[in-house]
Amino acid sequence: MIALTDVSQTFLGRTGAVEALRGMDLQVDNGEFVAVVGRSGCGKSTLLRLIAGLLTPTSGRILVDGTPVVGPRRDIAMMFQRPALLPWRSVLHNVMLPVEIFGWRRSEHRQTALRLLEMVGLTGFQKRLPHELSGGMQQRVALCRALIQRPRLLLMDEPFSALDALTREELSVELQRIHMELRTTMVFVTHSIDEAVLLADRVVVMSQRPGQVRKVVEVDIPRPRSLGYNAHLEEVARTSAHLHELLMEPITA
Ligand SMILES: Nc1ncnc2c1ncn2[C@@H]1O[C@H](COP(=O)(O)OP(=O)(O)OP(=O)(O)O)[C@@H](O)[C@H]1O
Ligand SMILES: [Mg+2]
Repeated sequence: MIALTDVSQTFLGRTGAVEALRGMDLQVDNGEFVAVVGRSGCGKSTLLRLIAGLLTPTSGRILVDGTPVVGPRRDIAMMFQRPALLPWRSVLHNVMLPVEIFGWRRSEHRQTALRLLEMVGLTGFQKRLPHELSGGMQQRVALCRALIQRPRLLLMDEPFSALDALTREELSVELQRIHMELRTTMVFVTHSIDEAVLLADRVVVMSQRPGQVRKVVEVDIPRPRSLGYNAHLEEVARTSAHLHELLMEPITA
């Protein structure tokens, strides 16, 4: 599904060059949920922007579904830390935005939009404006907006990090359900070990800048998973501890 080969990214700024990624290799399978964790500044957002075609790598090759990524694509959707909804448009019209951008028939997609809103528990809110919703509800709308384009790949850059802990957990559980239902390939950047363990089939732990794959941790816990009492508490704790150690290891030059 995704194949990165020897991808490097160096930014040339006013104060000199910043090497964000160096020789990154990564494979993601169809339908897989991959979480990406790593210290601040290690290049996680850069990695997602490269896969999304929002940036061109300095060197290396990125294939999604067998074809090189040369710019934004309809089969790849992206979600950011902030929902970035258009404040003057209703919930429904925000979800419908990609339909308009891609010039698809509105009448055909209206039902899909309403069904997506239902799936995330927002039935009855379609006429509201973004400012009338809580942060968690706004992020749900952003998720629907990403899903309406039926992406084969959904890239998420810390999508829940601006939310309070409980809303965050609630949305992670919902995302897990959506992933189980739709089987969309997902790459999810997070600072939360809990989220990674709840959601991911594999967790990619990145090294300090310049970012590289430091370790890939398989999460072999049956789904649906939960952070509360469940039959796999021990595996959840062990995986969390392992990730914690990898992330907290002292920085060596
Ligand atoms: N457009 C840019 N121009 C110059 N430098 C950049 C640019 N974008 C990112 N960088 C630099 O590249 C490095 C990696 O940035 P990136 O945003 O990918 O990190 P991150 O892992 O997402 O961090 P965080 O966890 O804080 O979000 C940083 O040193 C950053 O300053
Ligand atoms: Mg980032």
